[in-house]
Formats: sequence, C-alpha cells, structure tokens
Amino acid sequence: MGRILIKRGRLVNPADGTDKVCDILIDDGKIAEIAEEIPGETESVLDASGKIVMPGLIDLHVHLREPGFEYKETIETGTKAAAHGGVTSICPMPNTNPVIDSPERVRDLLERAKDAPVHVLPVGAVTLGQEGKELADIRGMKEAGAVALSEDGKSVMDSLVYRKGLCQAAECGIPVFAHCEDKCLVDGGVMNAGKKAEELGLPGITNAVEDVIVARDIFLSKEAGNRLHLCHCSTRDSAVLVELAKKQGLPVTGEVCPHHFTMSDEEITEDHGRFKMNPPLRGSEDVQALKEALRDGIMDVISTDHAPHGEEEKNQSMRRAPFGIVGIENSFAIGYTELVRGGYLTLAGLIEKMSVNPARVLGIDKGNIAVGKAADVVIADISGEYEIDPEAFFSKGKNTPFAGKKVYGKVETTIVDGRVVYSAS
Ligand code: DOR
Ligand code: ZN
Ligand code: ZN
Repeated sequence: MGRILIKRGRLVNPADGTDKVCDILIDDGKIAEIAEEIPGETESVLDASGKIVMPGLIDLHVHLREPGFEYKETIETGTKAAAHGGVTSICPMPNTNPVIDSPERVRDLLERAKDAPVHVLPVGAVTLGQEGKELADIRGMKEAGAVALSEDGKSVMDSLVYRKGLCQAAECGIPVFAHCEDKCLVDGGVMNAGKKAEELGLPGITNAVEDVIVARDIFLSKEAGNRLHLCHCSTRDSAVLVELAKKQGLPVTGEVCPHHFTMSDEEITEDHGRFKMNPPLRGSEDVQALKEALRDGIMDVISTDHAPHGEEEKNQSMRRAPFGIVGIENSFAIGYTELVRGGYLTLAGLIEKMSVNPARVLGIDKGNIAVGKAADVVIADISGEYEIDPEAFFSKGKNTPFAGKKVYGKVETTIVDGRVVYSAS
C-alpha cells in the first residue's frame, strides 16, 4: 500500500486535544508519523494548507437498503455516499428485506460489503423479522460481527420481550440502538403535531410518541443492565430524560440528527415528502433544546438516519410518502454551519460528536489520529461556502429538505485504512 503525506493541514484531534498545523505521514494503512515537518520522499503528497484534518466520521445510523430495496440504495452507492461525506465507518440498520436478524444474515451483509470503500459495521435486529415477538439469536449475531442491536424503524412494543432482549444484549456486552416510537400513539400522524400540521391539514405526531418510549427504554435498560443508545432524539423531553439517566450514572447515550437540530416544522413550506421523516421535524423549542443538549454534553452523538427512498415515492404528499431523508453526504457541513458557526460547539466538540463519541458507543479503537492507529482520516475546507446539491450525491436518494442550502464545511478528501476513497479534485 502506498505512502501518503498530508502537508500543512490543521490537525484537529479531540481524542488527545491536538489542534495544530503539522504534517502527517500515512504508511501501510496506519498513521506512521505526526510532526511539524516531514520531508517528502516517494509518497504521494496531499497539500492540506488552509484545510482541517480530522479523524474519519463514524455514522451510527444509516440505511443501506440492500438486500431487498436496491432501487432506493445499494451497499455500493450508500458507502460511496458515506466516503463523499467524510464518513469512514457506518452502522447500517437491519430493516432490509430480509431483515438482518440472524448470524447468517450478518455474515451475508459483511460478505456483500467486503470491497466497500468504508467500514461497514452491521446492526442486528432485536426480534426475528422485526416482528416484536421472538428474540433473534443475539449472541450468534454478535459473534458473526454485529456491533449493536436495533429494531430501527419501530420499537419493540412488548416490554417483556424487549426486556429479555436487553438482558441478552447486556450479557453479550453489545449496545442497543433504540428507535423510540409508541406505535399505538402515532395514530396515523405524518408530521409534527402543531400549528403547521393544522395549517396543512395533516395528522400530527405528538412529542409523547417519542418521550414515553425513551422513558420506558431507560428504565428497562436500568433493570437489564445493557448499554442504551437512543436514536434520533427529537424532543426537548428526550433531552431531559437523557440528562436524568446520566445523573443516575446509567450507560445511556443520546443521538441527534442534523435535520432535528437545524429545522423546525415552521420551515415546512408545503405538503411534500421531502419534509417527512420519523421522528418528524419538531417545534422550534425542541430544536433549541437539542442544540443546547449537544452543547451541554447531554446529547453525545450526531448521526444522520440516512434514509434513501425512490424519487416517485418521495415526490408526493406527506400522507403517502415514506418516512426518511438522506443526510450522510452533508452531515459534517450542516453540523459545522449550524453548531460551530452558530456558537454551540467548538470544531473539536463537533468532531467529538461525529467521531470520538460514536467510537466510544461501539467500544472500537477509532476516532483518533495518532501514531500506530488505522489511517481513517478526512481533509475538509471550512473556509468557503457551498450549496447543497442533491444531483452531486453518490446516494441514489435525493430526498432532502436541504437542497440549495448554503453551508460551510466541504469534505475534500476521505482516507480509509490509508487509501483515498473520495477526493473532490
Ligand atoms: O425516517 C425514517 N426512515 N425513520 C425511521 O425510523 C426509518 C427510516 C427508514 O428506514 O426509512
Ligand atoms: Zn428510527
Ligand atoms: Zn433509521
């Protein structure tokens, strides 16, 4: 494998507090040297002057759609999209067809992804077929390579079945990624309940749909002893509950998606599928509370819930369109623009939420640019403004409410295990 010398970039590595301009030598897939100046020899040189260099982002919440829904996304297009977004490791959710609910399915996914440009770390379902009735072979899936368990797309509504799953997860030492939604309370809702839903004449999803399951999951996990990671928290009371769990010393982490800390339901301009995702865009008090929770260390992780769908499916009323928007190709830019330029996080703080903390949730040795570590490295430009253009996405999904949004934080180069997997130039 070739040597790569990154020259004169501003290395921002929150894992050891580094923030300085330096050279970085990558050799044989690993970080070989970090120094003020490293003389170039035969290696390829990447000029990073004026740019930042950060550990590769880790997105704990991605939908790859393969197997079963390849018209929405494939492992190939989804992992290329990740590389484009500076994301070097992804956790694909198991709601494919068939569902990833057995050791064989986990192995099949890993086999399909073996040549992918980024690391693919599978998430196994909690119950067979995600039907909420019979537990999947949790230990078997872990042994086959699943890094977490999730019923994403829904919650396991039977609390007894769920608690048994949580107990097994605790025994195996595998975290549970919880999609929190009380199915009975949804009541046909397609967007946030409130003034905007009334204006558009659409059925609403109240905050309690999420909050009651967040609370349930925290208290069930307290009894089961598992690590609990709460997916796509969208309400102010989710933040209150995560804070409570942390005060009690429970191993609970909270995740927020870029759309939930950036847009409120007030910004929904029309009844169109591009504004539809689950949980929905909430009220402005929720958006504000989420930003503050990220700032205050209550929310730990920013992941995307990258959920590609076909164009025709999304190009219709929220009543009929499926839930989900894409996001993996602009998550760093949205985070940088909204939270760093917006004054809620430092740049190192943002990288913590997008790389260091996700690695911690998984308990993997990533999110750190240091000598001897695997070279998952991203070079980005935070100085110039650019416009989000879905036509430039590698993802098959173009469904985003951020089309045309002006942002800062363009990913220029993505390196995985010492190999350039995306380059803007
Ligand atoms: O918006 C969403 N889309 N939320 C989910 O929970 C599932 C996801 C999907 O699979 O499309
Ligand atoms: Zn979900
Ligand atoms: Zn999801």
